[in-house]
Amino acid sequence: MIDNPYKPIKTEVLDICEESPTIRTVILKPEEPLRFKAGQFVEMTIPGLGEAPFTPSSSPHEKQKLEISIMKAGKVTAKIHDLKKGDTVGLRGPYGNEYPLSDYEGKDVLLVGGGVGLAPLRALFFALVHDVKKYKSITFCCGAKTPSDLIYKESVLDKWHKLDKRIDLRVTVDKKDKDWKGKEGLVTTTLDNLKVDLKNSVAIVCGPPVMMKFSTFKLIELGYKENQVYLSMEKNMSCGFGKCGHCRLGNFYVCKDGPVFRYDKISNIHEIWD
Ligand SMILES: Cc1cc2nc3c(=O)[nH]c(=O)nc-3n(C[C@H](O)[C@H](O)[C@H](O)COP(=O)(O)OP(=O)(O)OC[C@H]3O[C@@H](n4cnc5c(N)ncnc54)[C@H](O)[C@@H]3O)c2cc1C
Ligand code: FES
Repeated sequence: MIDNPYKPIKTEVLDICEESPTIRTVILKPEEPLRFKAGQFVEMTIPGLGEAPFTPSSSPHEKQKLEISIMKAGKVTAKIHDLKKGDTVGLRGPYGNEYPLSDYEGKDVLLVGGGVGLAPLRALFFALVHDVKKYKSITFCCGAKTPSDLIYKESVLDKWHKLDKRIDLRVTVDKKDKDWKGKEGLVTTTLDNLKVDLKNSVAIVCGPPVMMKFSTFKLIELGYKENQVYLSMEKNMSCGFGKCGHCRLGNFYVCKDGPVFRYDKISNIHEIWD
């Protein structure tokens, strides 16, 4: 008998955490282990409705459960936002490639994320911190539209700074409110005065297309080479494993050849920022 590659693993919703008015983190326990590496994605099925791809945001070293941070965008994500503790969903995967951590060793590693784009970077951050001595420094630039849109608030504003002296956390919001004591400005402004050795650096960018575009352009302007910048790409997907052709980007399938791409491999593709 051939295994059905679309068959999801039955998964229990252990808890739900409200991150912002539009983003929730669901904490999930699959019936069988689902091991992923930072950057890979899974397909989540809502029985009777459909499925959608998401990148786990928890530590890849956590074996028993995983977390996924989900922004309400349409019908599947709206239903996920209605889930309650004890509900059941399906998960299949993981799919796609991971961040090439061995290429980052010994280097100044810069993470630049905005909005729900902080989700895959959170998994990457945990993976880097797990072996923190392998990296020269970790700078994490986090952006959100407003203070209430900032996800992982407690960690970003308080906890992650304290994990290791190599960590430099830079947080900004596009528009502050009366209680915000931090920086105001687009996430690209956090890239000023980086304390990195450019020749020995890598940068990883994830967020809405416009944020990825301007952050990447700024990195290049600062002196990063195209082969030092990694992007987590999103395209509409269906199968998740290279069969349906929905996720084409130039000659690549994002689900199979990505979602993590080194910028020099895709910089000449016209629709890269669509
Ligand atoms: C590899 C990958 C990882 C992702 N990781 C996350 C994540 O961690 N958290 C998160 O909140 N979202 C993530 N997304 C986006 C998420 O998959 C879409 O928001 C989701 O599929 C929308 O489904 P829906 O049924 O709610 O919306 P729909 O009703 O299908 O559509 C709503 C809107 O979203 C657009 N859309 C639909 N599917 C996708 C898609 N696959 N990618 C981008 N836009 C889409 C549609 O064009 C439409 O404008 C990821 C997407 C990819 C491809
Ligand atoms: S989602 Fe089917 S080929 Fe990529």
